[in-house]
Amino acid sequence: MSTPSIPPRLRRLRRSQSVRGLVQETRLRVEDLILPLFVREGSGDAEPVASMPGVSRHTLEGLVAQARAAHELGIAAVALFPVTPARRKDPRGREALNSKGLALRAVRALKKALPDLVVITDVALDPYTRHGHDGVLDKRGRDVDNDATVAILAKMAVLQAEAGADWVAPSDMMDGRVRAIREALDKAGHTQVAILSYAAKFASAYYGPFREAVGSGEAAGKTYLDKRTYQLNPANAREAAREAALDAQEGADILMVKPAGAYLDILHALRARTTLPLAAYQVSGEYAQLHAAARLGWLNLEATRDEALLSIKRAGADLILTYFAMDVARTLR
Ligand code: PBG
Repeated sequence: MSTPSIPPRLRRLRRSQSVRGLVQETRLRVEDLILPLFVREGSGDAEPVASMPGVSRHTLEGLVAQARAAHELGIAAVALFPVTPARRKDPRGREALNSKGLALRAVRALKKALPDLVVITDVALDPYTRHGHDGVLDKRGRDVDNDATVAILAKMAVLQAEAGADWVAPSDMMDGRVRAIREALDKAGHTQVAILSYAAKFASAYYGPFREAVGSGEAAGKTYLDKRTYQLNPANAREAAREAALDAQEGADILMVKPAGAYLDILHALRARTTLPLAAYQVSGEYAQLHAAARLGWLNLEATRDEALLSIKRAGADLILTYFAMDVARTLR
């Protein structure tokens, strides 16, 4: 006998996989995924990144092969991060403007082999500076010089566009860089190159494994690598909204929140405030923690991975940068 007084029975729509599928509100799609890739100089095998199982620093050739494999799985875009050899790093990050530099060669190789693949380049100086900061330091070496850095970033973006980048992605958090980059791109005739702005990038401890991958943390040493004078304070949501609004005004085509998992509220709030497409970066530490727990047998990797990614979409992301992109794409086939 059932109780007539029970209000709407929500379990009716959870009865079977078919029913649950029909009423599912959010879905992961391979079209939403962007794969970050690391490229290094030299030849030989890909070098695994210890704290990021399944992720490697690829040679130029390996990079193209990996991008091709991703593209064949339906992944439409890759975000490129170069590993600069220590001898090419200097305090000014000059290698960033070397037209024969690794990142630019990688863009050319990718666009030549896979013209349809959307290639996203990183606009920031941390892979190139010996101190590991995203910009150049002021005369006394006490602070990152905003305006001097912005001028370099604008040049860097133009070089990347010339090499064939589809989207340039400033990840540095300097003030005014989106406008400067947009103006420089337009002036150079690259009106169709889009800006994916790391609009709300927090000073996060979740970037640790990435810094190991590109060697920006080790180069800097702990005390030097305090990025809190430019990256957002994890405690601040209103300030993140200001950053995003400014980047939109300055001409960003897509706004990004980074990291993703610990900042779903930021994503959700932004979704309500902007009509621009929103991206989220599930960063290296988010990837590493799931792998670590899975290795200990404490969590199910696939299930937690999918739940984490779905939550990022539910919070409001249209696009997700994730090191899981290929694994997920395989399961979505
Ligand atoms: C810096 C940059 C960082 C990441 C991408 N670009 C981290 C940092 O501030 O050192 C992190 C990405 C990740 O952790 O996966 N321009």
